Amino acid sequence: MYFLITTLLLGWLIWASPVLADSTLPEKQGCSSCHRFSAEESPESHKAPDLFYAGNKFQKSWLEKFLQTPVVVRKAGTSTDPDFLKASSTPAPPHPTLSGKEALAMVDYLMSLSMPGLAKGNVDDAPLSKGNKVRIKILFERNYGCIACHEGINLAGQARGGISGPSLANAGNRLTADWVFNWLKTPKKFIARGRMPFYNLDDESAIKLTKYIMSLKIGDWN
Ligand code: HEC
Ligand code: HEC
Repeated sequence: MYFLITTLLLGWLIWASPVLADSTLPEKQGCSSCHRFSAEESPESHKAPDLFYAGNKFQKSWLEKFLQTPVVVRKAGTSTDPDFLKASSTPAPPHPTLSGKEALAMVDYLMSLSMPGLAKGNVDDAPLSKGNKVRIKILFERNYGCIACHEGINLAGQARGGISGPSLANAGNRLTADWVFNWLKTPKKFIARGRMPFYNLDDESAIKLTKYIMSLKIGDWN
């Protein structure tokens, strides 16, 4: 009887335990030489974008695709690289690729990385009305001049804009609304010495811009 109960209990424990994300993967796959996977690592020796809050920042499906068929997001290089802008004409070297199976395991790990204490964006996913979209596009392009550093999408559905910041042309397929909201409100939480101007946006403006950014999608982007 005891044997039966123990077997059942053990079986249940094995079945119920979540699949643990493998934290040794970045080291094994050589990712740690370029990216930080924990805020404790020194930023100086890591030139590529930080990934220790990847679970907050990215959409799972974007990560899965990116790791197998990488696209260039930062055409002028990565802003944390000391050579940023000095070598603006040099395109980023091709990103390492993973097989389908490796990518899935890596995505499980990346999605498990999150930063505590982020604000709830309260950005609903109702699509913007045409009128609102036009009004916020004007904020994005003219009032705040975000377009000077970031690619958005023009009326013909093509990427257009500056390249000194990461492209936002496919942000709606790549980022999460909550993360974009947190970035706009408190970029310092994510990057100590960033290159983006601090706008000190109130919640309403941050929500508007977040909704606009999340509406930017490139249909057939891979
Ligand atoms: C030689 C350095 C290097 C290595 C090794 C490397 N990366 Fe990257 N990675 C980069 C750079 C540079 C970028 C930014 C590319 C861009 O924006 O166009 C990047 C971008 C990314 C992004 C998107 C980040 C963002 O904010 O847009 C993810 C996710 C990522 N890498 C994961 C990985 C994983 C997982 C590995 C290991 C399999 C890895 N990288 C190995 C340099 C590297
Ligand atoms: C002077 C150039 C500049 C302007 C203007 C600018 N940004 Fe940025 N932005 C950057 C850079 C550079 C980064 C990358 C992080 C860093 O270095 O601070 C960034 C990062 C971002 C990110 C995160 C993207 C990612 O994938 O990591 C978002 C979202 C963003 N900016 C939105 C905006 C919005 C919205 C505006 C206008 C209100 C704006 N930016 C204005 C330069 C700029």
